Amino acid sequence: MAAAAPAMARALLGLCLVAASLALSSSAQSCASLTFSRSGDFALCSSLQRLGSTLHWTYHPSNGTVDIAFRAPQRSTGWVAWGINPQGPRMAGTQALVAFVNSSSGLVVPYTSPVSAAPAPLQQADISIRTTNRQGEFSGGVFTIYATLTLTNNQIRVSHSWQSSTTFSGGLPADHPSTGDHILSTGTLDFLSGEPTSRGSPAPPGGSPAPSIATLPLARLYVCACTCMFGWMLMYVGM
Ligand SMILES: *[C@@H]1O[C@H](CO)[C@@H](O)[C@H](O)[C@H]1NC(C)=O
Ligand SMILES: *[C@@H]1O[C@H](CO)[C@@H](O)[C@H](O)[C@H]1NC(C)=O
Repeated sequence: MAAAAPAMARALLGLCLVAASLALSSSAQSCASLTFSRSGDFALCSSLQRLGSTLHWTYHPSNGTVDIAFRAPQRSTGWVAWGINPQGPRMAGTQALVAFVNSSSGLVVPYTSPVSAAPAPLQQADISIRTTNRQGEFSGGVFTIYATLTLTNNQIRVSHSWQSSTTFSGGLPADHPSTGDHILSTGTLDFLSGEPTSRGSPAPPGGSPAPSIATLPLARLYVCACTCMFGWMLMYVGM
């Protein structure tokens, strides 16, 4: 036991460092704590890692629709866009929803635009994915696009891409920086998996939703701290 203790202590310390970095990174980027002004819950979310964006959704298997909210920080004079790309995880071909603040009405009215391979302003046009219930808002430096999508053949695994920029041409979102996050903001998404949100998780009957360790960064930090202390203790005892 005495001989095994230092090795165990080292293993625990290693685990504790990994857990601490996970807890810290997820508390900085967690999508699960975000709430929405539009009524209705989103069951799952994903922190998209690029451009500070998050995607939130509720998937309805019975009819293959998914209610989404895309959030991205941007100046009020900028634009944001998100969309599924049936051709793969890249910008060209994305069936995008685009939003900016209309300077004359002050409103955010998301519209659909297929992203072409050649750089061009994002004109309003039909996209291959049926979208309804489009709404948008700009609040506290963050754009939110709401929509209901009908998934092609009820296909839950999709490629998607997203973007944000402040460049317009002829009153339309046009260009974006071709560096950093702006060219890395693509990925794949599974509408059945994702991070459960606190609002979307089922509430126990007659009570408020039980806080889950997975959705509470602070709780995770406490678990880390305990593991660390236990590790140090074992190390001390072992030596
Ligand atoms: C799809 O199913 C959900 C959940 O049953 C329902 O709320 C929604 O209205 C349905 N949408 C359509 C377009 O049928
Ligand atoms: C902005 O709002 C005005 C007034 O509602 C409208 O006439 C115009 O078409 C809108 N512009 C865009 C680009 O949506």
